[in-house]
Amino acid sequence: MIAVVKQERRVGAKLEEVKTPELGSEDVLVKVKATALCGTDLHIYEWSPWAQNAGIHPPQIMGHEFSGEIAAVGNAVVNLTPGDYVAGETHIPCGKCYQCRNGQQHICGNLKLFGVHTDGCFAEYAKIPAICAVKIPTTIPPEIGAVFEPLGTALRASLAVKVAGKNVAVIGCGPIGLFAIACSRAMGAANIIATDVVNERLQLSKELGADASLNPAKEDVVDAALEMTRGVGVDVFMDASGSVAAIKQGFQYLRKGGEVALIGLPSEPIELNLGPDIIFKEAKIIGIHGREMFSTWTQMENMIDKGLLNLDPIISHRMPLSEFEKAFELIKTGKGCKVILDPSQT
Ligand SMILES: NC(=O)c1ccc[n+]([C@@H]2O[C@H](COP(=O)([O-])OP(=O)(O)OC[C@H]3O[C@@H](n4cnc5c(N)ncnc54)[C@H](O)[C@@H]3O)[C@@H](O)[C@H]2O)c1
Ligand SMILES: [Zn+2]
Ligand SMILES: [Zn+2]
Repeated sequence: MIAVVKQERRVGAKLEEVKTPELGSEDVLVKVKATALCGTDLHIYEWSPWAQNAGIHPPQIMGHEFSGEIAAVGNAVVNLTPGDYVAGETHIPCGKCYQCRNGQQHICGNLKLFGVHTDGCFAEYAKIPAICAVKIPTTIPPEIGAVFEPLGTALRASLAVKVAGKNVAVIGCGPIGLFAIACSRAMGAANIIATDVVNERLQLSKELGADASLNPAKEDVVDAALEMTRGVGVDVFMDASGSVAAIKQGFQYLRKGGEVALIGLPSEPIELNLGPDIIFKEAKIIGIHGREMFSTWTQMENMIDKGLLNLDPIISHRMPLSEFEKAFELIKTGKGCKVILDPSQT
């Protein structure tokens, strides 16, 4: 089969003919219908300092966001059969540790990430543990199935801070932030304030229904947020930027008693002033790592099936798998948002 392979511990990847994966007893083989690029793939492609320390062992097939059709199942797989339509969950739980046995397998103590610690899905076929192949309705188009994974992270954050009826700020309008805006809108948020430093991204936030789209490099986000909330501050903010400055600033316009969901991964530690930022505010902060397995998936499926989420503006490009280099360039420059690759096209 054809696959995009990270060959060596340095920048780049190549399109190669490789063997179709052999299945273990608890694996399934999925014929990939659509696969999406994400910032993590860019890190691996560019072999960033994060990638160098993420436990990746080239040569390895890249990619982790996908949907497709089950082509074969391992001997011990009972819940899936060839022909089933599935999307990929990236978090591979061990099934044995404390978290796995207590309903939190998405933060398993021995967590492995599909496409980071294993071969991935930038290929005609992908091998994945059956537990990570989630059946979705055939009415959902493959490119939407391929973004269930990042969408679920954003939905989970929106659920965690209970956006209904609240004034919400979303920091960072990359795919995850934009998904959080779409979810917040669908879930009945009052005002949504979106921030980003890239104008194209702010434009997308407007298309998704943000009430204010602010560029912190050009305007005072704290003033604007206080003004929009009659001097009170936002009820909640979700960070999907990983920007140290933006996260610190968020605590300045978070109201007393407010809640925060942190998704973005800062590249360095953040210094907060615990008294005013958290303690006297009684702020609640929750870290979000992926999706609950599998309640978030069920909620996503329900919302998409019902047509509650407007995701079209977020999917910016569709191209054959062979054009992966162009796809990486698009997300690197911010010209593309969610780029979908199709392995059946060459
Ligand atoms: N916690 C998780 O489970 C999880 C999963 C996937 C991704 N992530 C992280 O979430 C973040 C968002 O992911 P993405 O795929 O949307 O990434 P992305 O890089 O496409 O989006 C980040 C956005 O933040 C913007 N930004 C940068 N500085 C800013 C600032 N000062 N103020 C406002 N916006 C700013 C960027 O212009 C960009 O549009 C990344 O940090 C990623 O590593 C976390
Ligand atoms: Zn991803
Ligand atoms: Zn575990």
